[in-house]
This record gives sequence, structure tokens and C-alpha cells, in this order.
Amino acid sequence: MNQGNGLLTRESLRAFPKIELHRHLEGTFSLPTLHRMALRNGLSFPENIEEFRTHVQFPKDSDPDFLKFLSLFKNDWYRSLDDVAEITAASVRDFANDGLFYIELRFSPEHFAYHNGFDRAEVTRTVVAAADSAAREQGLEIRYLITFNRKQEESEMIKLYELIRDLGLSRIVGIDLAGDETSYPPQLFVRLFSLIAADGAFRSTIHAGEITPAKQIWDAIDLLHASRIGHGVAAIHDPDLQKLLSEREIVLEQCITSNFQTGSWTDESSHPMGKLHSLGVPVTINSDDPFIQDTDLTEDYAKAIRHFGFNVDDLVTLNLRALLGAFISNGEKQNLQKRYLAKVAEFRSNYGV
Ligand code: ADE
Ligand code: ZN
Repeated sequence: MNQGNGLLTRESLRAFPKIELHRHLEGTFSLPTLHRMALRNGLSFPENIEEFRTHVQFPKDSDPDFLKFLSLFKNDWYRSLDDVAEITAASVRDFANDGLFYIELRFSPEHFAYHNGFDRAEVTRTVVAAADSAAREQGLEIRYLITFNRKQEESEMIKLYELIRDLGLSRIVGIDLAGDETSYPPQLFVRLFSLIAADGAFRSTIHAGEITPAKQIWDAIDLLHASRIGHGVAAIHDPDLQKLLSEREIVLEQCITSNFQTGSWTDESSHPMGKLHSLGVPVTINSDDPFIQDTDLTEDYAKAIRHFGFNVDDLVTLNLRALLGAFISNGEKQNLQKRYLAKVAEFRSNYGV
């Protein structure tokens, strides 16, 4: 273990200023708020919150299973836009527990709109307004990525994309492709992502090489113009790809706990993050879906320290990499980097590390 780690307790690690690029709003709900909403809206769930938990989170005794993990994203919790605002605000308020400094929070307007047939533009404005205000309360810098689920028809995705683009919400900075990569490869979405690249209003990040081989990461970059890759654990098997990721500074948004539960990588202690980092591939630490996983971002930091021997300097390096990969202007990055390093200095002095 590197120098300084002995002083990093769970409490200090919680306070360490973090930059997170990969977290789904639909996977980071506040449990008590969701429970109250489910009962209020007449959904059939236990009154006891600990029992409720066992229905909505990935079972602790389950074997890793990608499709079972994805099946936990229910979309019928909400009955009004006020419900959408309430669950969003409560969930973003909880981010304070993870010491977040900057986050690119992704969400799927389709997820929140589908069950009730809500207007997608209204849903998007509602989520952004609720999350903006909860982020402001805690001094958190927040931006948004719009998630498209691979199950949707590409022509429907294009309509939704054009609607989002025309909203002109400046804090929406990117587009994400998520869902079942085993059945829906990048080839199915070339028209959408070519349009996004041609418009130039947003950058793209693609879930790829999570469950599928490294070829899907190449395809996400070559066919879908990905600027970042969600997970990308399969990159560990492909030195040419590692070289490309390093040279083009294509950040891998890695998620240790999620990768274990989905079966993406079955032994956390040998997760590729440590090796890829030592090879110079830009990796970052992210939580993905902490509510579904019954965990938090701090836990993934603790795992990275335990398994890969990262020290405070490494953590700062990874967070600065994340900032470099953020979908914001160079001017914003410079400004945020200055503020981030001031937070790190304050953290070091508070905790003596
Ligand atoms: N949506 C939410 N979490 C996901 C994951 N780990 N992979 C693909 N799609 C997702
Ligand atoms: Zn994800």
C-alpha cells in the first residue's frame, strides 16, 4: 500500500472531493423517498423498508447476472411530474454523502415518461430543474447526459434526440447509449450518432466492452464517435486498443461494484482498473447504479485503494483525468481544475494526508 493510505479512513475517503462521469439517475434513487412514493402510488410493495430493499436492489446472494441487473430498472414508480421532481431532488441531495465536487448525471427521459405517457420535453425540464436546485444547495457542479436505451427503435431515438437538442438546455452536455449491449451492437445506432456528431451540440459516451469483447469498444469509437466509454473492461485484453485510448485520451468510465454484479468482471481484486491505470490508459472511478447495487461511490474508492494500492496522489490524478474527459469547454475545465485543487488542498490539511 502506498504512503498515506493508512490515514484514509472511510470517513475521510467520503470527504475526498470526487469528479464522477458515470452515474444513472434511475440507478441512484433515495431509498426512503422511493419507498414512500411506491406506497403512496398504490404499488404492491412491503411497508417495511428493509423488505422493500430486498425487492428493488440486486440480491446479495445472487450470482452475477447482467440481464437480471438490468431488469431491476422499473419505470412505473411515478404518477405525476411532481413525483419525478421529488425523486430527482431527494436522490441528488444524497450525493452530498459521497463528497462529490462535479458530476455528469445521466438520465433517460423515456424511463420517466414511458408509463404515464408524459411529454418527454416536460420530463427533461423537470429533472434538470429539480437536480439543478438540489445541486445548488450543496455547491455541487452538475451537468447532464441523456441516456438512450438500446431497446428503443433508432428512428424513435432520433426524434427524442432532436427534441432534446432543440430544448437548448446548456447543462445537458452529452448523450449516452446504455442497456443490453449483448443483443444491440453499435451497428444499429450509426445514423443517430452520426447525426449527433454532425450537429456538434453534444459529445457521446457509449456503454461498450462491459459484457462484450473489445471489438465493441472499437466499434463505439469508429462507428458511433464515442469520446468516452462506459465500463470498457474488455480493453484489458487488447494492447492496440489501450494505445488508442491513451493517445486519443478516451476515458474509460469504470465501475468496480457494478462490474461484479453484472458479471462483467467476476473478481473485484483483479479488476482491470489498476493495470490499465499503470499502462497509462485514462481510467476513472464511478458508481454506475449505487441504489440498485446497495453501495455508494465512496465504497468503490475504498475498493480501488484496497485492490490497486492507489494513494491520495493517484486519486487526484484519476479525478483530474475525469475532469479532462468531462464534456465541458476548456475554459470551464481550467476554472474547475483550480477550484478542485483548492478542495484537495483543504482535504489534505483537514485529514493530514
Ligand atoms: N443502465 C444502467 N446501468 C447499466 C449498465 N451497467 N450497463 C448497461 N446499461 C445500464
Ligand atoms: Zn451505466
